[in-house]
Amino acid sequence: MTFDRRLRIAPSILSADFADFGREIRAIEDQGADWVHVDVMDGHFVPNLTFGPPAVKAFRKHVTTFMDVHLMIAPVDPFIEAYAEAGADMITAHVEAGPHIHRTLQAIRATGRMAGVALNPGTPADSVEHVLDLCDMVLVMSVNPGFGGQKFIHSQVAKIERLRAMIGDRPIHIQVDGGVDPATAPLVVRAGADVLVAGSAVFRGGSADMPEVYGRNMQAIREAAFGRVPA
Ligand code: DX5
Ligand code: ZN
Repeated sequence: MTFDRRLRIAPSILSADFADFGREIRAIEDQGADWVHVDVMDGHFVPNLTFGPPAVKAFRKHVTTFMDVHLMIAPVDPFIEAYAEAGADMITAHVEAGPHIHRTLQAIRATGRMAGVALNPGTPADSVEHVLDLCDMVLVMSVNPGFGGQKFIHSQVAKIERLRAMIGDRPIHIQVDGGVDPATAPLVVRAGADVLVAGSAVFRGGSADMPEVYGRNMQAIREAAFGRVPA
């Protein structure tokens, strides 16, 4: 994949119908999703449980764009290979999930997958300064991870600005995850984010039978991000 900073929308399937993932993934992709964001939770690093490698492997069969796997698990290293084999294109690990983020990022890169590093809202931008050259993406959590549908934490906008300056012209995406909707998208894009994860703001009001709602929701985020009021 060649690098560019055009705006990407990555719907989180945490807000999809859990009994119908195949159709939900096809619906968001048909409606213009750039990436498919998969939230992996372990009931330990975060207070919720979601998808093991077999589930992610099953999603892969339906993903034709790019499968972005966000690991909210600790420890993370023992599971990297399994999520790589499940078909992740990007594997993102949290800097708070263990004492050795440098080793974790090396292990992700060793699988041939792209590597992301995620920061919780309380973690400073500087914590990733010395691992940026092992990363394809920095994920700024704009809610405390664990659940969809939470309120955007505004203090994270300054962190995005700081990371954007740190990254300079290096080919590293800045992803924002949590509470992204048409009201908050312009703030994070102006600060330097280029990949927007959105769960509730994409899936709200739609279904695999009414996929055009997903399309409208994504369009509303895109247009708001560029300062235009949706029609
Ligand atoms: C939170 C997850 C997010 C979440 C986003 O722990 O990492 O990806 O699903 O959901 P919304 O967009 O509803 O805040
Ligand atoms: Zn996520």
